[in-house]
Amino acid sequence: MQINSIEEYELAYRKSVDNPEQFWGEIAQNFQWRKPWFKVLSWNFADPEIKWFEGAKLNITENCLDRHLATDADKPAIIWEPNDPEQDSITLTYKMLHERVCRFANVLKRNGAKKGDRICIYMPMVPELAIAVLACARIGAVHSVVFGGFSAKSIADRINDAACKLVVTADGAYRGSKKIELKEVIDDALIGCSTVEKVIVLTHTRTPVSMLKGRDVWWEDEVKHVNDVCPAEEMDAEDMLFILYTSGSTGKPKGVVHTCGGYMVYAGYTFSNVFNYQPGEVYFCTADIGWITGHSYIIYGPLSQGATSVIFEGIPTYPDASRFWQIVDKHKVNSLYTAPTAIRSLMSFGDEPFANVSMDTLRVLGSVGEPINEEAWHWFDEKIGKGNCPIVDTWWQTETGGIMISPIANVTRTKPSFATLPLPGIQPCLVDENGQEIEGNGVSGNLCIKFPWPGILRTTYGDHERCRQTYFSAYPNMYFTGDGCLRDDEGYYRITGRVDDVINVSGHRIGTAEVENAINMHSGVVESAVVGFPHEVKGQGIYAFVIYPEHHSDEELTRKDILQTVTRMIGAIAKPDKIMFVSGLPKTRSGKIMRRILRKIAEGEVSNLGDTSTLLDPAVVTEIIEKAQTK
Ligand code: PRX
Repeated sequence: MQINSIEEYELAYRKSVDNPEQFWGEIAQNFQWRKPWFKVLSWNFADPEIKWFEGAKLNITENCLDRHLATDADKPAIIWEPNDPEQDSITLTYKMLHERVCRFANVLKRNGAKKGDRICIYMPMVPELAIAVLACARIGAVHSVVFGGFSAKSIADRINDAACKLVVTADGAYRGSKKIELKEVIDDALIGCSTVEKVIVLTHTRTPVSMLKGRDVWWEDEVKHVNDVCPAEEMDAEDMLFILYTSGSTGKPKGVVHTCGGYMVYAGYTFSNVFNYQPGEVYFCTADIGWITGHSYIIYGPLSQGATSVIFEGIPTYPDASRFWQIVDKHKVNSLYTAPTAIRSLMSFGDEPFANVSMDTLRVLGSVGEPINEEAWHWFDEKIGKGNCPIVDTWWQTETGGIMISPIANVTRTKPSFATLPLPGIQPCLVDENGQEIEGNGVSGNLCIKFPWPGILRTTYGDHERCRQTYFSAYPNMYFTGDGCLRDDEGYYRITGRVDDVINVSGHRIGTAEVENAINMHSGVVESAVVGFPHEVKGQGIYAFVIYPEHHSDEELTRKDILQTVTRMIGAIAKPDKIMFVSGLPKTRSGKIMRRILRKIAEGEVSNLGDTSTLLDPAVVTEIIEKAQTK
């Protein structure tokens, strides 16, 4: 199923459009099924209802583990690199990983979990996180991994939305020089969660934790009570595999649902092709498993292809800015998949971090999560790839399950800051505000996808109407991505950023409404408006305009109080970079906040505010501009 030349790509692409069922049916033969499908695809985008590989039975862990045992039992599946470089790394072969997944799957069962139950996972980047994820899949339970940076309130909302029965966590996590007390956060979260019956706690940081009798059990104790034989649960291709929460333009995060068969085929196919993965190679994705990149391209994609996947617990700048490069040398990494924000932050350290590293093993570089600016692209190319490694700038989303528009390493000619061409099976199109498709090249518009692919989301958990509204209602018969996009003269795609009220901060998707709701929870705040602004390292930063008439005479203190409130309500990742106290917000006569104006002010473009004739009170804008200029 690997594409090795541009001619092969063109052929595969043509076939995937002319005869998608045949195309994907053949790709799917590369995976292991208990029972074949009777229909490759049935779909409509109106409801929406999308089914891939209907009638087929499988278990994704048999594809990620069991099927490699005959030939690759002793091959490394996971190499774990700890936060502290002085501590030993851990290698788990496919055989060891299989045993541990089966054992922990039995622990889950022993604690009452069964097929269809939802299990929340809130863990550090340790091998046990991958083991917990795969153990859920083994028994047919639905995992909902929550990123370690979210607050108790955010976790509680996610647990309640999915009515999770179990939580898997750890005492704590290391992040650079910091220790994060995960179990304490879970304890706070669970005060408001009645559905959770059991909490399984891994010992990692040896932080003292409170263990509630009858509810909390230790991972290490539990695994002693079970064996490592656990036949995989037989799953329907369309059974739910996982839920992953993501932010949108409205307040509450949505639980994006992926199912077993299509997701597996899509994650595996795209991994194998985009990175041109060769047997025996070591692949390192620096994302956190709490995000879709970690799900698809640390766990399911690589393991389904028998790859060796590096899991790194720490951060790129600890103990110093050479850490990624040290890891590349230490584990002889061949493919490195990271985010523009990490690249930009590492660029600022100059050449010193490269003094003692060679990075000669690198063959392919990847970028994901946000637009990569040309400067960062060239630095990545020259400094890291030494001009010899193709850069795959991969565009995709939580909802797409896998990479959609991207070069194929060693096949597609790359172009700085362009995601280049759609992968086989992906039919992108650009539409204008009226929903008209914009044909031809040298054009830009809103990015939509015309035809389903196996990794597309099936619903948003517990609220199918919301799924329809969000993705399938803006333009009939199309999936709307929320991104703006340009197609250049040669048909190459460049993603220009979100066109909705979503901000991309360091590759993390944050809804402006979510941040506003959090700020508004702070006592004394009357109203707020949040917009993004260009940020040198993070890509975008968060700018909050806040009406807080009686704020403390010490503005700085008030600012900190608000940040604390946002940290409590969402998590530190959503903290505004800038807060401006204002006496009013620019609104239309019908009461709508004119974000366009605030965005311009946040970008420092006050001279060109566009049409302000519909403003209710123009004096408000004058005040904000004056404040912005005196800062
Ligand atoms: O705006 C796009 C941006 O990230 C959004 C998806 O975020 P999330 O669901 O968190 O998934 C991130 C990892 C796949 C998109 O709507 N984005 C992602 N990759 C790129 C990108 N923007 C530009 N170029 C990319 N390569």
